[in-house]
Amino acid sequence: MKASSLALMGGGLFIPGPAISGTGAARIELTASKGNYKFEQDQQSPTQLMFFNKAIPGPVIRIPQGQESIVELHNDLDEPTSVHWHGLRIDNEMDGVPGMTQDPIQPGESFLYRLRPPDAGTYWYHSHQRTWGQLAFGLAGILIVEEDEAPRVDQDLIFAVDDWRLDDHLQFDSASLGSMHDWSHGGRLGNWITINGRLDHPYRVSKGERIRFRMLNIANARTMKLRINQPLSRVIAIDGQPVKPYELKSGVVTLAPGQRSDLIIDISGEPNSGSPIELLIKDQVYTVSSFEVDGNIKRQEILESSITLPPNPMNRIQLPQTSKQVPLHIGGGAMGGMQQAIYQGREMGIQELIQNKKIWAFNGIAGLPDSPLFKVRRGSAVSLNIDNDNAWSHAMHIHGHHFIDQKQPGVWRDTALFMREEKGSLRFVADNPGKWLIHCHMIEHQAGGMITWFEVT
Ligand code: C2O
Ligand code: CU
Repeated sequence: MKASSLALMGGGLFIPGPAISGTGAARIELTASKGNYKFEQDQQSPTQLMFFNKAIPGPVIRIPQGQESIVELHNDLDEPTSVHWHGLRIDNEMDGVPGMTQDPIQPGESFLYRLRPPDAGTYWYHSHQRTWGQLAFGLAGILIVEEDEAPRVDQDLIFAVDDWRLDDHLQFDSASLGSMHDWSHGGRLGNWITINGRLDHPYRVSKGERIRFRMLNIANARTMKLRINQPLSRVIAIDGQPVKPYELKSGVVTLAPGQRSDLIIDISGEPNSGSPIELLIKDQVYTVSSFEVDGNIKRQEILESSITLPPNPMNRIQLPQTSKQVPLHIGGGAMGGMQQAIYQGREMGIQELIQNKKIWAFNGIAGLPDSPLFKVRRGSAVSLNIDNDNAWSHAMHIHGHHFIDQKQPGVWRDTALFMREEKGSLRFVADNPGKWLIHCHMIEHQAGGMITWFEVT
């Protein structure tokens, strides 16, 4: 979809992306490389991108819960890379943060990631090296940790939404990559929207069918408000973690960059009809995909079986009454009036900060500091008290842990959206030893300074 010239999508068959699954101790090979990609079949000249196993998004990796799977990552790029497993509560050495948990993987080199995910659910993986470039070029994929016993569904579908800044011939707009305007405003927002890497992506379904719909926002910076237009839609998981199923009343799922929602949808609508999936941007409505109801009737009555996911170990964690209070002030950005900040241990005025491409600060510090924001003993409860004191919204992400956002009680998230000038707390138990990042998942904000870390000893 191009954001300026949008019509209801035509037919076209959905081509499922490659899936790699593991049962038991899986071993999966991933290769990061540069190459050509077509967003639609009849695209004249292909787009030069970066991808995992030549797929956009990268292959859907399915691994079992609680067992070790191995992913061997080969770097065929001409620059260093790494892979971060977004939302997985895994060992610190496997978190994929160059300079903190591993060395960057040099061109021609490989790295073995050993993943033993405690929680089932919908996750994703992406480059964590020069992320603002590598993610914009396409280095991301879907990761599913399978439940031992999942609710019965007829189809398990992925809806990974992304936006791309391309010209009219679908060529990557490199001229604006790294633009300070983007970094100080809302990030690199694309003008083309893809679902699972396709510009035209309908889902073929039948009346009465029960589908699991795994929705992920893998864009660099755009928060997506998506209207599903299927009345029998219920949310069963958020950021991978099961929630008590609830009806999607407004029909709208809002996903900040990095966030996920799993839905169970019982398809309604007459045979041979369709319903659009729409992206709402301000007062504009764009159709980005659709459910195409075919001529078959799967069942007349809705399935009665339970849609509740089995609990994850995460669901059993209790937050204690008292926790360590950690203030986190977010300053900077366009119209933010930031005058100075500390960068690389030295106080700089705004001009010097801009020369260093730093325009955001956590507690007055721009970029990754030498010392952690806080250091706690394993098992300590932490309340990150966020004061989003600037004119922009931010998607706050914590590595290796899930937290409860005060405004969404009972939901364990790994990424939380804060609107301009919003204040609120993220509470969690720091129970995973190691060094972990906290950053904005609007990747240009992260690159522009919104990044810090904490240590669990
Ligand atoms: Cu998905 Cu550090 O990020
Ligand atoms: Cu941000």
